[in-house]
Amino acid sequence: MAKESYRIALFGLGHIGLPTAALFAKNGFKVEGVDINSAAVDNINSGSSPILEPGLDELVKEVVAQKMLNATTDGLRAAKSANVMIVVVPTPVDSNNCSDLSAVISACETISKGLKKGDLVIIESTIPPHTCENIVGPILEKSGLKVSQDFGLAYTPERALPNNTLYEMTHNARVIGGIDMESAQKAAYLYQNITEGKVVTVKNLVTAEMVKLMENTYRDTNIALANELAIICESLEIDAIDAIEAANFHPRVNIHTPGPGVGGHCLSIDPYFIVEMAQRQGKSADIIKTSRKINENMPLHVADLIEKSLMESGKSIENATIGVLGVAYKGNVADARETPAQPLIQTLIAKKAEVKAHDPHVASEFIQSMGAQPVSMEDALNCDCVVLMTDHDEYRQITPEMIKNSVFICTRPILNPDEFKAKGVIFKGVGRP
Ligand SMILES: NC(=O)c1ccc[n+]([C@@H]2O[C@H](COP(=O)([O-])OP(=O)(O)OC[C@H]3O[C@@H](n4cnc5c(N)ncnc54)[C@H](O)[C@@H]3O)[C@@H](O)[C@H]2O)c1
Repeated sequence: MAKESYRIALFGLGHIGLPTAALFAKNGFKVEGVDINSAAVDNINSGSSPILEPGLDELVKEVVAQKMLNATTDGLRAAKSANVMIVVVPTPVDSNNCSDLSAVISACETISKGLKKGDLVIIESTIPPHTCENIVGPILEKSGLKVSQDFGLAYTPERALPNNTLYEMTHNARVIGGIDMESAQKAAYLYQNITEGKVVTVKNLVTAEMVKLMENTYRDTNIALANELAIICESLEIDAIDAIEAANFHPRVNIHTPGPGVGGHCLSIDPYFIVEMAQRQGKSADIIKTSRKINENMPLHVADLIEKSLMESGKSIENATIGVLGVAYKGNVADARETPAQPLIQTLIAKKAEVKAHDPHVASEFIQSMGAQPVSMEDALNCDCVVLMTDHDEYRQITPEMIKNSVFICTRPILNPDEFKAKGVIFKGVGRP
């Protein structure tokens, strides 16, 4: 089938969906994006991106002007006029750390009402194993059509990194699984048009679902190991960062970098999807659960470092001013979803500290919603204790003279502790005694 014969309806125009839609449009596919957020839809139709991501605004402007991409809130109409439907809606966990698939279910319910013979449905949202076969397929079959026999179903996870999304989407390898060979091949053909990376077709849908979760669980558990080693090193008066650097000269060792916790929409959520499915099978997923617990406790460890360092300087945490540098979950991004800065701020407030925060990438309203007072970098540096949570480039230039009250908790290994200690600053960090 030629490119011109495809009509793509993409559900969920967020951090992953919008760049995907724009890349398909840029590569000659007519795309209609669907979102329940009418402000985002209006934004896109006026030629700008509601998602902050390098290059995305320009790309959206270009493909909207070329009439290759438009957005709508009318999912049913979009599904009826498309022959490929892609689902990239959010899949968070609920308060019990169980998957919340309500957005996937809702998008698929809409798609089933517009489904036609020969259509292909592709799920990109991160989901627990067997979701495509046990949940998505039956919803789509409410159309009266039979999966595989009348319409195709494929799953392909996304791996792009915020702030580098367009590059990664066009260069990373992509894993695809289908309900049958035809679905997988059709999906592979489509994605081959937007990526130079290898398209890896796996045996079936569930393998592709599991691949994504395994990748993020691998990262989460390795970060947990680094964090646990760092905390042990602190108590043994060993600089864990130096030790890890030396250990990584071993040709088969790659210890990750410890830090204040794990955030973002993937690493802090996806391992729970494995835990949920493992428990249903009577398996315990011990390493995965423990790793989550270690990483979730890291902000509390940082709060502990703050309290002890303030005491060392003769101050109590109560009524102390704490300047948090960076609330985004990682350096140089605006994404603060599941950020470890949030539980840290809550803990400090519960200890009656006055929390001020600076982030050059995150909106002041968001900082305020976390309970902190948004301030300039200078004001944050003037606090009784400064705590660096995010390795934004702006913070790499911090010098000992800038820490006005001589207490600095640097949770990311971007500054040299010796330089600060030499100037009388109480300098502590994760893994840095
Ligand atoms: N952000 C990442 O770095 C990343 C990376 C890999 C995978 N993922 C996965 O991709 C999926 C989407 O994540 P995201 O970061 O793009 O989320 P997001 O929150 O940025 O965007 C999701 C969009 O879907 C819309 N939406 C919600 N329900 C809808 C519905 N029923 N119909 C149509 N639109 C709907 C929302 O309004 C929002 O605009 C998730 O499953 C996530 O785990 C994300």
